[in-house]
Amino acid sequence: MKKWTVAAFRAAKGTQKLGCCTAYDSCFARLADEAGVPCILVGDSMGMMTLGHATTLPVKMEETLSATAAVARAVKDALVVADMPFGSYQCGDDLAMANAVACLKAGADAVKLEGGATVCGLIRRMTAAGIPVLAHVGMMPQSVNVYGGFRKQGKTREAAEQVLADAKAVEEAGAFAVTLECVPAELAAEITAALRIVTVGIGAGPVCDAQWLVMHDLLGLNEGHVPSFVRQYAHLASEAKRAFAAYVAEVAAGTFPPAEGAART
Ligand code: KIV
Repeated sequence: MKKWTVAAFRAAKGTQKLGCCTAYDSCFARLADEAGVPCILVGDSMGMMTLGHATTLPVKMEETLSATAAVARAVKDALVVADMPFGSYQCGDDLAMANAVACLKAGADAVKLEGGATVCGLIRRMTAAGIPVLAHVGMMPQSVNVYGGFRKQGKTREAAEQVLADAKAVEEAGAFAVTLECVPAELAAEITAALRIVTVGIGAGPVCDAQWLVMHDLLGLNEGHVPSFVRQYAHLASEAKRAFAAYVAEVAAGTFPPAEGAART
């Protein structure tokens, strides 16, 4: 397989639908990469999936950089996108630029940030500086406190027009792709038809050019709330628990470790 570049990702629009996912460490990033996942997002969902937070808001820039470096060290072919955490691009454009540069220095090929028209200046500046940007409109988890919960967006015609306008604005500003999170499928289809850039849907129906799934949902590692749009392609949580329990029981029973020279199972 050859390396997925931003140009190759762009060129996939209309020719190939792309199943993309998150990863937060070298081990799982290597597995996803070797399995042919074209784009791996070091999502700020790591706050909820691996750090035990209730939202993505507490994720720190240092945590994103550390996870991005771990993922980038393992990946050969996938496009690696670092998801800029809350606070890393809202407190002034110079700080945002420095943080985006740090993401690329850590090994990311591109950064992702949430927002429509309000972040277009930043998208223009980053793109001009050589930092490819994957935008994110619709339900933006970093705005959970504004919504009062993780709520589907774009449900009224007026709200849908706003999401469409934001998607067009980030395209115009230079984003190479845009995430459409938790918006009605018809709206995602309308946006996908209206844009020249790749739309990456999550909870946004089947018509998007690409899809995201959070890795812990995809692999069935997440035993908490699983959104209704998720399909679990494995059930690793129960398999991991079975293995842990078997190990504890074998140590207690004295059957592990085996006597020297005994066969390994
Ligand atoms: O952090 C994340 O996992 C994301 C995806 C839901 C797109 O932003």
